[in-house]
Amino acid sequence: MSLHEEIEHRRTFAIISHPDAGKTTLTEKFLLYGGAIQTAGAVKSNKIRRGATSDFMEIERQRGISVSTSVMTFTYGGKSINLLDTPGHRDFAEDTYRTLTAVDSVILVIDCVKGVEAQTKRLMEVCRMRNTPVIVFINKLDLEGRDAFDLLDELEEKLSIKVRPMSWPIGIGATFQGVYDLFSKGLRLFDPGKTKVEQISRRIQDLSDPLLDDELGEDAAIQLRGDIDLIEGVYDPFDKNAYQAGQIAPVFFGSAFNNFGVKEVLDAFVDIAPSPGPRQTDQGEVEPDDPKFSGFIFKIHANLDPNHRDRIAFLRICSGQFKRNTYYHHVRLNKQLRFATPTNFLASAKTIVEEAWPGDVIGLFDTGNFKIGDTLTEGANFQFRGIPAFSPELFRELVNLDPMKTKQLDKGIRQLTDEGVAQLFTQQPGNKKIVGCVGELQFEVISYRLEHEYGAKCAFQQIAAHMACWMTSTDEAALDQFIRMKAQQIVQDKDDNPVFMAPSAYMLDLEKRNNPDITFHTTSEFKTAVDRP
Ligand code: G4P
Repeated sequence: MSLHEEIEHRRTFAIISHPDAGKTTLTEKFLLYGGAIQTAGAVKSNKIRRGATSDFMEIERQRGISVSTSVMTFTYGGKSINLLDTPGHRDFAEDTYRTLTAVDSVILVIDCVKGVEAQTKRLMEVCRMRNTPVIVFINKLDLEGRDAFDLLDELEEKLSIKVRPMSWPIGIGATFQGVYDLFSKGLRLFDPGKTKVEQISRRIQDLSDPLLDDELGEDAAIQLRGDIDLIEGVYDPFDKNAYQAGQIAPVFFGSAFNNFGVKEVLDAFVDIAPSPGPRQTDQGEVEPDDPKFSGFIFKIHANLDPNHRDRIAFLRICSGQFKRNTYYHHVRLNKQLRFATPTNFLASAKTIVEEAWPGDVIGLFDTGNFKIGDTLTEGANFQFRGIPAFSPELFRELVNLDPMKTKQLDKGIRQLTDEGVAQLFTQQPGNKKIVGCVGELQFEVISYRLEHEYGAKCAFQQIAAHMACWMTSTDEAALDQFIRMKAQQIVQDKDDNPVFMAPSAYMLDLEKRNNPDITFHTTSEFKTAVDRP
């Protein structure tokens, strides 16, 4: 295949959801359709049920360095599909945000009983930063869920995106009979006993077809006709370009557990989801069919076995062809690197790849050269953009409990934060280290790993910090003066950018008002990113 055909052939995406909405179940059904697994129950949930560190460590250990579940590759509908896994626990949301920078589209799973939940909102904000195309799957229609129109309104309102139903539920919960496919004008009837791949389909001429009354009963048929009338009147027709531009989200209804409506969403996905597109760099866009290879690291997975301090860096290929045993340019380090054992993740087996194409994700064996966001090229000196750090929500000062192990602690915390486990800020004078996380569990994981992998003991001490704000200003002198005046609240991020550590929401507001020339950002990559509200 030519480079162009290789690109057209690929779909790289992630399934995202609030925990428990059905991401794992839907993933498993997709893999069954793609032939990547043969039996149900083969995909293990990455949920941390008890919310405990030991749970997290156990999940990480089971995955080990093989990370075969991190990227699932399968073929369906003639396309090569890369499904990137995201963590199931809220405290590791930052990892999910980063994974979203490596995909070309997402499928968002919503629980029809719960509607839009907190984590859904967050994830969608990140998708909107890059205009990532979104398909919505409203799941669990076999349960007594909310009214379908209400759910659509809520999606539009809370996620600030226009929606367009592609299928429509007939009844819900106990009265759920199936869905009407708005495009092929087909009825898909639900048989709760059937968990296999088939489901009953009926083609009808149009909604006046008497088959509708025969199959559904008169009341349900009348209701469906009324609903569809309303939909056609209220929602614009589906527009693939608007979807691919991230402006409109097609919505499907179904039940992942019962394998109902899953094939429809997968078929639509291979049909409408975009193949790898151009990517932003600090020197303009790079097209995927640029013959020169380029890619970036979006995830680093450590080997948790202290005897093997090796890591796997996940590389998303953005342009050209990646070849094994070829020297590539590590832009940040200005260093030539060559990879003898790049791996891909076909089904459950880890295999060495000879070549890879835009949209593919491969694992590179790493002895400490990589940080999240690093760019590899065939010689060019640009850096990929769009992997911002978000302000953490919790901040603690890292306290060394064993002065004999200062070096180990420094090295450990540097390596863990390079992996993206947390964010590290330093404050001068005194080289005070402040660790920022999204959830409490992350602090526990960090102290566990520092102790077990680096032999360093630490504690985390509460500090008065509410938000990390990166700053820009059209008035350099005003910014310099602010940094000098607020020296006690200024810290450095990992790239030595000054960051204002706002002690409280009130103080942040006050500083914003007092310093109208300075813009305070809650993401590190404000030039292209929309700030988190
Ligand atoms: P997640 O990855 O998004 O966290 O969700 P997951 O797929 O693990 O699903 C969460 C729970 O919801 C699971 O039940 C799963 O069986 C159930 N579920 C998924 N899809 C449907 C559906 O269409 N209808 C109904 N009624 N339930 C659904 P669990 O009891 O928490 O886990 P398990 O013991 O079944 O693994």
